[in-house]
Amino acid sequence: MELLKQRIQSEGLALTEHVLKVDSFLNHQVDPKLMEAMGEEFARYFKDHHITKVFTIESSGIAPTVMTALKLGIPMVTLKKQASKILNQEVYQTEVRSFTKDLRYLLTLSKNYITPEDNILIIDDFLAMGEAALGAARLAEEAGAKVAGIGIVIEKSFQPGREKLEEAGYEVYSLARIQKLGKGIIEFLT
Ligand code: G4P
Repeated sequence: MELLKQRIQSEGLALTEHVLKVDSFLNHQVDPKLMEAMGEEFARYFKDHHITKVFTIESSGIAPTVMTALKLGIPMVTLKKQASKILNQEVYQTEVRSFTKDLRYLLTLSKNYITPEDNILIIDDFLAMGEAALGAARLAEEAGAKVAGIGIVIEKSFQPGREKLEEAGYEVYSLARIQKLGKGIIEFLT
């Protein structure tokens, strides 16, 4: 998505060879017009996938995801990150390990917001190791639902996330794919 790539190029900051800071439009301040354009693009790409609900993981995935759900005319569900197990029968939970932040959390979904008939699109802001998206897919599948695809705002293609998701059989569509980060360097895959 050209508009997104331009914003990354002009406002993104490669903090290290692995981490891109995009606080001015996605992770801290949020540009609603850009979110809307992202929602339109995800909706265009996945319009024939018969999606019934769009899932994301709190918190930075929420803005592009709500726009996608709006454009597709379906609900969105935010998967919550809990520090410890919820001891009741009302939720599905799965452990996710974040390598970037070096922590673990329990991704949590209420049983009220998924059925076996659902066809889920998962959207997240960054794809690094793929662990968050795989966790979201596990929850959907535990409920008997299908995962119709995974939409990513910024994919770091030099990390193994896409490969892992594709190996697990999921279709991945990323709005921007970064092949290299470094001091003053942000290179995209064409
Ligand atoms: P993975 O799901 O692909 O395995 O990624 P990982 O756990 O390593 O990423 C953990 C968190 O770090 C996620 O945010 C993810 O969006 C964020 N992240 C990963 N790489 C980058 C990066 O290069 N730049 C920025 N800005 N963020 C990155 P989170 O913990 O879910 O936090 P939130 O911001 O969504 O609340």
